[in-house]
Amino acid sequence: MEKIIIFDTTLRDGEQAPGASMTPEQKLEVALQLEKLGVDVIEAGFPVASPGDFKAVELVSRNIKKCIVCGLARCIKQDIEIAGDSLKRAKHPRLHIFLATSKIHLKYKFKKPEDEILELAKQATRMSRKICSDIEFSPEDATRSERPFLFRVIEAVIKEGARTINIPDTVGYSYPQEIFSLITDIKNNVPNINKAVISIHCHDDLGMAAANSLSAVLAGARQAHCTINGIGERAGNASLEEVVMAIKTRKDAFKGLYTQVNTKELFRISRLVSSITDFVVAPNKAIVGRNAFRHEAGIHQDAILKKRITYEIMNPADVGIPESQLVLGKHSGRHAFDDRLKSLGFCLTQEQLNKAFERFKEIADKKKDIFDDDLRTIVEEEKRIVSPVWELNSFEVHSGTKIKPEATVILNKKGKTLTETSFGDGPVDACFKAIDKIVGCKGKLEDYRLESVTSGEDALGQVSLKFNIEDRIISGRGLSTDIIEASVRAYLDAINKLS
Ligand code: KIV
Ligand code: ZN
Repeated sequence: MEKIIIFDTTLRDGEQAPGASMTPEQKLEVALQLEKLGVDVIEAGFPVASPGDFKAVELVSRNIKKCIVCGLARCIKQDIEIAGDSLKRAKHPRLHIFLATSKIHLKYKFKKPEDEILELAKQATRMSRKICSDIEFSPEDATRSERPFLFRVIEAVIKEGARTINIPDTVGYSYPQEIFSLITDIKNNVPNINKAVISIHCHDDLGMAAANSLSAVLAGARQAHCTINGIGERAGNASLEEVVMAIKTRKDAFKGLYTQVNTKELFRISRLVSSITDFVVAPNKAIVGRNAFRHEAGIHQDAILKKRITYEIMNPADVGIPESQLVLGKHSGRHAFDDRLKSLGFCLTQEQLNKAFERFKEIADKKKDIFDDDLRTIVEEEKRIVSPVWELNSFEVHSGTKIKPEATVILNKKGKTLTETSFGDGPVDACFKAIDKIVGCKGKLEDYRLESVTSGEDALGQVSLKFNIEDRIISGRGLSTDIIEASVRAYLDAINKLS
């Protein structure tokens, strides 16, 4: 059996999705979960990009022992040195350097001829090798590069000591047959290619990232770059759960190939990344979407009851999707709450547990039955909120078809109570405007989503929104049985990130 190395870049390319930025501590939380998931490589950031990214790579390096920890650098001395410094404490460090090789990039981005680019790639690899023994090289925009030049660059960097050659479809332009022929050509035209592992890195601009990655694997790539939930630059990257489950489910097509990912952890990490980045997973998202294993049509439901394989190609338990159970209600005590959270795999500090229990009680007062899905959402919500500056005290709205909506909001800030009233286009808008008056900021709402966590009239509603405040995209989430309250909580969550 041959292993497909899973290189996770959620914390680097995933984080490049607009509005998905993570703090170093959040990155560490995801990295620890990635280690549990069993990925081989964690690309933790682009250390030269910001002090926060440097700190994140350093923090992940210090705490991750089983996986290779990787930092990205351009083929520039300062980038390489800084990336090398951030990886110093890693048990298994990898330096990932990249340089574009396509005519388009050479002409418009670098304004340099091929020979100069080749020399830069060689020098950067040589320099990186002195800092780190494990070097991965990416010829950026490889799929739009002239093949003879691409082969020359690959051969040269392998000679300089690169151990992994990653082929990026940087702009998501390629399609499966083309990727297959590119990988095959690299194998046939780069004389020293057997000294390196071929890797693939696909973007999803045409919706083919996972298919392209799998095609590369069939052609001989032995490493795949992926992100959880497929988040990433523009339309995103190849989704890890899709690539991994395709290899596992279609053993007939991917003969003799396997990944070491513990697929039962997929659902949990998908939720974690969604909660940290505030990127809602689409209900129809393959593998981890809410509807991925739901059967609506009567004919399907009937057949599933007779034999699951009629309409199910994977077992939901294999990706860690639990059956939602009715578990708790307002009379449930702290012990039952704690026990249930442990069995759902949460590991909370005493402070987080107290906060989550308090919120659970508030919600259980309004909602008769609390299901596992509710519980999971409540806890994820409370875990995310760390010492908020602004807290909701209460609000009141007057609204109807014949009156202009008016809201009064009361917020607490460090023991002080502040009240404001405002009109708005709707009750939610009136609340946001009242909050703006108290906080003294004004954002432009870019995205607003409301989802119910479970079904029923008293279902919990979760609002996810994105605000543009001073050219920064700030996201927030809020949860309540009342959609106006969920919206207010989501807005405060976003504002607290700025405070
Ligand atoms: O898409 C891309 O080309 C990249 C490289 C840095 C690997 O993300
Ligand atoms: Zn990329």
